[in-house]
Amino acid sequence: MKHNPIIVALDFNSAEQALSLVDRLSPSNCRLKVGKELFSACGPSLVRQLVDRNFDVFLDLKYHDIPNTVSRALRVVADLGVWMVNIHASGGMAMMSQARETLDSLGGVRPLLVGVTVLTSLGREDLQQLGTDIEPAEQVRRLAQLCAQAGLDGVVCSAAEARQLRSELPAEFCLVTPGIRRPQDASGDQKRVFGPVEAIENGSDYLVVGRPITQAESPPEALQEFNSALAGFAESIG
Ligand code: C5P
Repeated sequence: MKHNPIIVALDFNSAEQALSLVDRLSPSNCRLKVGKELFSACGPSLVRQLVDRNFDVFLDLKYHDIPNTVSRALRVVADLGVWMVNIHASGGMAMMSQARETLDSLGGVRPLLVGVTVLTSLGREDLQQLGTDIEPAEQVRRLAQLCAQAGLDGVVCSAAEARQLRSELPAEFCLVTPGIRRPQDASGDQKRVFGPVEAIENGSDYLVVGRPITQAESPPEALQEFNSALAGFAESIG
């Protein structure tokens, strides 16, 4: 199991809200995710503040554009000092491999580069409308293989997909999984949710957790519960 696997999703629209939560968390027991909402509201300066507080930051902007544009954006992102960034696998092999080469060329510690395969909001019919006449799970497998071939470090995937992907992809290829809940948590708009231990057992490396922590009465206690469950599991498997 990876060290410090919980990534708290800062799904807020202001720096005040995000920082008042972050003030109660520590980089030694979680990482942070900044997505499109918070980034659109606060921009790179907030990301810098989080990095300056020694948090590993996953910048979840899901880049999808021509290879040159994505690579140029990634140069800027790398300069922010983020730990992880993602791009859409459907941008194609050339875009993904150029993205990886660009990050490698910068020297120093580069951000991990992970792929987004099929958005979990898309079903069989949606894919068909988009001209892809196969099951979403099959398309996920194809795109995850393409990500690995392009030299990406991993993919974002559900815990349901993790078991299959883990068995087909290199051990060092990391699986980043949202849709994580404790038994007492509301699933919200997530269609299928998994417990933290279940997701790790399926082969996930990092777990993205939003509302169960950010909306908890005590976010630090909620985070502690997730970490304790994972520590208990790690001990049980030695
Ligand atoms: O609040 P919750 O735990 O459901 O938040 C999950 C986070 O993971 C959100 O930031 C959401 O955008 C992100 N995510 C997701 N499903 C995906 C990809 C990302 O829930 N397939």
